[in-house]
Amino acid sequence: MKDFKFYAPTEVVFGENSEEQVARLIKKYGGTKVLVHYGGKSAERSGLLDKVCKQLQDEGIQFVKLGGVVPNPRLSLAKQGIELCRKEGIDFILAVGGGSVIDSSKCIAYGVCYDGDVWDFYLGKAQPTKMLPLAAVLTIPAAGSEMSEASVITNEDGDVKLGYSNDLSRPKFAIMNPRRTFTLPPYQTAAGVTDIMMHTMERYFNTDGDMTLTDEIAEALMRTMKACVFEVLKNPEDYRNRAQIMWGGSLAHNDVTGCRNNGDWATHQLEHELSGMFDVTHGAGLAAIWPSWARYVMHENLSRFVRFAVNVMEVPNDFTDPEGTALRGVEAMERFYHAIGMPVNIRELIGRDVTDEEIQEMTRKCSRDYQRTCGQFKVLKAEDMKAIYCMARG
Ligand code: NZQ
Ligand code: ZN
Repeated sequence: MKDFKFYAPTEVVFGENSEEQVARLIKKYGGTKVLVHYGGKSAERSGLLDKVCKQLQDEGIQFVKLGGVVPNPRLSLAKQGIELCRKEGIDFILAVGGGSVIDSSKCIAYGVCYDGDVWDFYLGKAQPTKMLPLAAVLTIPAAGSEMSEASVITNEDGDVKLGYSNDLSRPKFAIMNPRRTFTLPPYQTAAGVTDIMMHTMERYFNTDGDMTLTDEIAEALMRTMKACVFEVLKNPEDYRNRAQIMWGGSLAHNDVTGCRNNGDWATHQLEHELSGMFDVTHGAGLAAIWPSWARYVMHENLSRFVRFAVNVMEVPNDFTDPEGTALRGVEAMERFYHAIGMPVNIRELIGRDVTDEEIQEMTRKCSRDYQRTCGQFKVLKAEDMKAIYCMARG
């Protein structure tokens, strides 16, 4: 068992009407003037935004609103948010939405406390020493940003999507009411579950050897997500299964399933170029890449893939043919993706063939101009990244 760090400081308030605690929690964490940050229309349509704002008003907490965050959140809006926070003297950011809104909030929170260009952090040119405190009222279980140290931002100048991780950015609190996810469209529900499972898989596929407890938690989480997603696709107002998925989204990315290693993350890195270039839904992009990644790397540690096939995908173990068992696990995952409406290759993802030039461009970006590798399970060089994109063409 390898040494590890586990740090999950976010206070989670989970359940029916949990959003009614938002003002109390903001006060608890020292907020006096709040930026309420949100996305397109969903939080307005559902009445959640009004409910939150009215509560702040009633409790005498000043606030300013900034909406308009889009999936794959843009740097330009975060920069507007930074200016707004400075002008208004904001000391706390409340994200009402999903991963995109939370990540945009994190970017703003970094930027307000930094004299330079906030993009420096994402480029690795600078490290923040402080940031504004932030919190989330979560509306979609997927990215896990409500408990994670990561934020992922797209710079429209060159369509570059970069992540930056720092423990400072873990939200102070996260409010999760499963009822708020009833309005999620099937595609977002399925993409969210794909992302949740992938956050677990990125940590599960490692070459560090077993850690029984961590592996068992990871497998239970993945099996549970697989089962629950079919129930909520049948009945979007199924509270019990929406709740399992919502909590699963946080556990998948608060590192509890990683207590043994840092994870692989190659599928995520390869996907970020897809959503950066084609503006697709992150979870769907992961589904389009993972089967090709799996087939490309499985021989690095075949027994992990066999274990995954048997314990998660319920494939019978053919002890005489571990490679066959491992491959049947990947095929079972592809059938699962199709069954929930996810793509299994880039053609299905973007609705047309990806060109050679686009593959070259994604390879260049993913390898940071051919300077970096990604992944741990198998360390991928630029030629490996290109090979996986080519396998994933469909
Ligand atoms: O903008 P609105 O109208 O709110 O619509 C959103 C959006 O179109 C909609 N939605 C959210 N809650 C809803 C709802 N529609 C109806 N009812 C609700 N209750 O869903 C769409 C997707 O929202 P978004 O916030 O983009 O989803 P998600 O949470 O999947 O976030 C995706 C972003 O997170 C990044 C991804 O790369 C992507 O940019 N990630 C962030 C991570 C992190 N910070 O730790 C890790 C992840 O691996 C991921 O990379
Ligand atoms: Zn993800």
